[in-house]
Amino acid sequence: MLGILLEFLWTLLQVLWQWVWSVIMTLTPTALLAKDVSGQLVLITGAGGGLGSRMALLFAELGCRLVLWDVDAKLNARTLAKVEKYGVKVVAHTVDLCDSKAVAEAAKKVQKEVGNVDILVNNAGVVYGRSVVDSLDSQVERTFQVNIEAHFWTVKAFLPAMIERNSGHVVSIASTAGLFGVPGMADYCSSKFAAVGLSESLEMELHKAGKDGVQTTVICPYLMDTGMFEGCSSRFPLLLSILDPQYVATKTVQAVLCNQNFVILPKILYLMFFLKAILPVKAQILLSDFFGATTIMDTFVRKEKPA
Ligand SMILES: NC(=O)c1ccc[n+]([C@@H]2O[C@H](COP(=O)([O-])OP(=O)(O)OC[C@H]3O[C@@H](n4cnc5c(N)ncnc54)[C@H](O)[C@@H]3O)[C@@H](O)[C@H]2O)c1
Repeated sequence: MLGILLEFLWTLLQVLWQWVWSVIMTLTPTALLAKDVSGQLVLITGAGGGLGSRMALLFAELGCRLVLWDVDAKLNARTLAKVEKYGVKVVAHTVDLCDSKAVAEAAKKVQKEVGNVDILVNNAGVVYGRSVVDSLDSQVERTFQVNIEAHFWTVKAFLPAMIERNSGHVVSIASTAGLFGVPGMADYCSSKFAAVGLSESLEMELHKAGKDGVQTTVICPYLMDTGMFEGCSSRFPLLLSILDPQYVATKTVQAVLCNQNFVILPKILYLMFFLKAILPVKAQILLSDFFGATTIMDTFVRKEKPA
């Protein structure tokens, strides 16, 4: 009994220290905490898109080598051309993340021709914006394939080498839709909740295995101005504005450099996340109504993608 009590007190002390440490980290300028990633190999999925291309340029600026994956060869080539201007080594591969075999083959090609991936950024995503009853089976499947299943395929391909070296970083671009349910995109929300769950479980598995050199980061941004959620707007833009993807890319790279595990953007949504933990569901729905979250997808402009 005394042993358990002492263990509990020791755990509490460590928890308190971790909390104080995270406050210190938050207040310390990034430049003082940032790890050196120059020369490291970064693989970004969905690198042709709004956020992916911006993150690629920021990593190139830091002197990283890059592998760019996207199903859209044209968009990916555009990012490749921009990254090449930084004079870093970069390759672009056309990969359909819905195809697990294609992902495994593309991963082998990377390992053979370029080397071990140091920083894996699971960024590609799709959204179709239909209610649960109106959803098309093929689109629900594709949403899960791209937004979460592909995370498993890439992690299974690249994590073992990171574990072996006890060095590496797995980054997951989730969404605030991975923390709060939103009507009109249940498939997207559930895939993003899964991405948050995967990152959290992975962090625990690495801790359990004593691999403290391998880091995980999950990013949960609110709406970004990339065209993915075209037509959606914020009811109170002064309080909660549509995010600039350059800002999200910068915060993501900073989180990687500082080994930050969990990031919600913008910061005000940490408050909503806290309220979610303490309020009854009916109260949360009332707040969602007031802030316009329940109707946010009503103006969504659907771009039918191949399903
Ligand atoms: N835009 C937003 O408002 C917003 C908000 C929160 C989170 N996110 C998330 O941020 C990430 C980046 O989104 P974005 O706004 O840059 O979107 P985007 O549409 O500009 O980019 C997504 C990229 O993923 C690629 N892609 C889609 N399906 C693929 C597949 N099967 N295989 C390979 N690549 C594929 C697309 O070709 C595109 O280049 C996504 O995971 C998205 O869910 C976006």
